Amino acid sequence: MTLDDQIHRLVTAAMARAESARDPEELESVRIEVLGRKGSLAQFSKEFGKLPAEERPGAGKALNAAKETLESALEARKQAFDAAALDARLRTEWLDLTLPAPGPRPGSLHPVTLIQNEIEDLFTSLGFAVLDGPEVETEYHNFDALNIPPEHPARDMQDTFWLTDGNLLRTHTSPVQVRGMEKYGPPLRMIAPGRAFRNEEVDASHEHTFYQLEGMMVDRNVSVAHLIYFMKTLLSAIFRRDVTLRLRPGYFPFVEPGFELDVQCLICGGPGCPVCKQSGWVELLPCGLVHPSVLRMSGIDPDQWGGFAFGLGLTRLAMMRYGIDDIRLLQSGDLRFLSQF
Ligand code: FA5
Repeated sequence: MTLDDQIHRLVTAAMARAESARDPEELESVRIEVLGRKGSLAQFSKEFGKLPAEERPGAGKALNAAKETLESALEARKQAFDAAALDARLRTEWLDLTLPAPGPRPGSLHPVTLIQNEIEDLFTSLGFAVLDGPEVETEYHNFDALNIPPEHPARDMQDTFWLTDGNLLRTHTSPVQVRGMEKYGPPLRMIAPGRAFRNEEVDASHEHTFYQLEGMMVDRNVSVAHLIYFMKTLLSAIFRRDVTLRLRPGYFPFVEPGFELDVQCLICGGPGCPVCKQSGWVELLPCGLVHPSVLRMSGIDPDQWGGFAFGLGLTRLAMMRYGIDDIRLLQSGDLRFLSQF
């Protein structure tokens, strides 16, 4: 058999094996066997030297042609394998772009906001306006106009965050009473929910930033009976169950007489816990009849008009209503806590 014939045979056999290879690995082993450094074509090259000189150019050409034919046949087969593999992957790995995206987690209202909304609904149905006031207050509105002049010991009852310009972070929502009286005059029915700030030691029932809800009614012949009626209406609407209340005298320079309305602790039910400071009672609703000096300072004649006012501890009310045993949870931003409401 001539060298040409041998090469031709080798090429035909290798092409047939490449064609019937079942996977890229089998194809690769055919390539190594035929085209590799120690493969069949390389063996022919070794024989090359033994040929007579005149036959060498022809044999060289035949070898090169065989190599090119085999290389392009193997490459074509390899590409067919790659294409099939890609095709198989595309058939199994696919994304349904028409599926709706997983949206952001739906939010919920904060427990204090929930209670605030309920109280606003109740009082607006009773003819009260909802007023707003600044959190950075003047000393006059936070203290003086509420009958707490400088050097008055009552200023020490509320540890104040003073600002360098002489203003302060309001220590209670009571300055909004003053702003309401100044702006609208009598008769007046208003509530004012909002934040108050005190430079206090934080514990289970005290925060440096907490919510209060101020209320005020100024009209002719307002008495303690009106005050008690509104406080009872408020608390039974909020708790929607029997709660034990305690009314005791309370001192605030801007009311006379003044009261503290406490609720029996709903966290422990009375025996004592960190929220009620082991007393069984939680201070919730200080209130009283508006002091004549306060009316006068805001331009209202106390001989013609009277009023009541209250300053509900809104954050503490939310704690009692939802059984929250630590005030710090309310401002923690902890979603495990907040998503329960
Ligand atoms: C006042 O702030 C008066 N302005 C309330 C008032 C208004 C009296 C109108 C009479 C007429 P007091 O300091 O007690 O009062 O605070 C009122 C309520 O706010 C408390 O009963 C309590 O429920 C809540 N409170 C006070 N300090 C804190 C605090 N650090 N953290 C959370 N709640 C507080």
